[in-house]
Amino acid sequence: MSEKSKFSGHFGFVMAAAGSAVGVGNLWRFPYLAAKDGGGFFLIIYLILVVTFGFTLLTSDIATGRKTQASAIHAYDQMDHRWKFLGVLTFLVPVIIMTYYAVIGGWITKYIVVFLTGHGAEAAADDFFTGFITSPVESSIYAVIFMVLTAIIIFNGVEGGIEKCSKFMMPVLIVLIVFTAVFSLTLKHPDSSGRVVTGIQGLGVYLKPDVSGMTVSRFLQILLDAMSQIFFSLSVSMGIMITYGSYVNKDVDLNKAVSQIEFFDTLVAFLAGMMIIPSIFVFSGKDGMAAGPGLMFVALPKVFSAMGGFGHIVGAAFFIMAAFATLTSCISVLESIVANVMEITGKPRKPVTTVLAVVYTAASVIIALGYSKFYVEIPLPNGTVGQLLDLMDYISNSFMMPFISFLSTILIGWILKPQWIIDEVEVGGVKMQRKALYTFMVRYAAPVIMILLFLQSTGLLNIILK
Ligand code: PHE
Repeated sequence: MSEKSKFSGHFGFVMAAAGSAVGVGNLWRFPYLAAKDGGGFFLIIYLILVVTFGFTLLTSDIATGRKTQASAIHAYDQMDHRWKFLGVLTFLVPVIIMTYYAVIGGWITKYIVVFLTGHGAEAAADDFFTGFITSPVESSIYAVIFMVLTAIIIFNGVEGGIEKCSKFMMPVLIVLIVFTAVFSLTLKHPDSSGRVVTGIQGLGVYLKPDVSGMTVSRFLQILLDAMSQIFFSLSVSMGIMITYGSYVNKDVDLNKAVSQIEFFDTLVAFLAGMMIIPSIFVFSGKDGMAAGPGLMFVALPKVFSAMGGFGHIVGAAFFIMAAFATLTSCISVLESIVANVMEITGKPRKPVTTVLAVVYTAASVIIALGYSKFYVEIPLPNGTVGQLLDLMDYISNSFMMPFISFLSTILIGWILKPQWIIDEVEVGGVKMQRKALYTFMVRYAAPVIMILLFLQSTGLLNIILK
């Protein structure tokens, strides 16, 4: 077998891993949750959870990858032969996510085109988004473009593809988000009664902890919202960080790398909130924070259009930033599938990538057609009704991830013991920071929270509490 591919060093790895972590989850889901869950109160809870749970899960994944030098299936097989099934389950998460991630990437690409060609005002119309996703040909074409782009990067390998494009896109993304976030603080607009609402007031809504009407069950809900966001946002428990960890050289200090990835991911989420909440607040008031894709593809274009001429530039900047965030995440999903398949079959990168690209181009088209030709209404266990994309998202994120996380913390905390991970972090004489915290988290706190999360997202918690 040829020499294993690697990242060139610390910076390349952190940019690639942060690239995977920073995605649409940071840009729309985090601001939406912050607005819904008490502003600053959510921010505090989220921060505490990132440096405890987030840190534990991310360290476990990355150290597992580096220690075993393998992706999920072979990694779990090496950890304990009887737990190979957990590797297979973990592998299935990106396998499912990949069916729809390029579809979302396609939507974003469409909006870049719309804003760059000066048609931003049209995107502000109520039925523009629905019109686009229900048009079978157009939505499929954009999904295919995004899928092919992803495959080309993966085809070029770890250093020449993933690392190179992350090192370019992530810094650009930071510049764009700082620019749009600061700009949104300068906004002013009169509300229906003629009173001028400012971006700074919107910032207050975002940052001020709102605990009015707090009950135990609401607190629990906020806790679980923050927890599930951390999972999704850090790309943990889906084998992606195991694969990326397997490309990290032994001389990289994992303490530092993990802290930097957490910091980067949280910073972008925080700035996204600082950009989105004030701008929606200024133009549509407190009730403007619609859930789901509606926020990004319906509410924001309205805001950009209300900004006048400059709105085109801000809109284009926003969607370019979103495309970079989505592309660096999408490549990590495909990479972890490719890496597992390469390990299982022993075949080289290029043919494996080519075959998977064909398979997923077809899958993406099917999911994209889930809003037109293959429209269905599927009742999900958490009480919502979704189309094909929502079904895939539900299975991977709400159902599989907490379950996998629960099992992997049991494996690491109780069967292999936390020292197994600590030893890897301490390779080469570095001292693992937050060691006691890690041990406590992986053995006790994480398994309990994972079970709660699993019960909540499958709707079982409501049944039990009733
Ligand atoms: N971490 C990404 C985000 O925050 C989402 C993601 C999920 C990326 C799965 C890759 C794989 O949006």
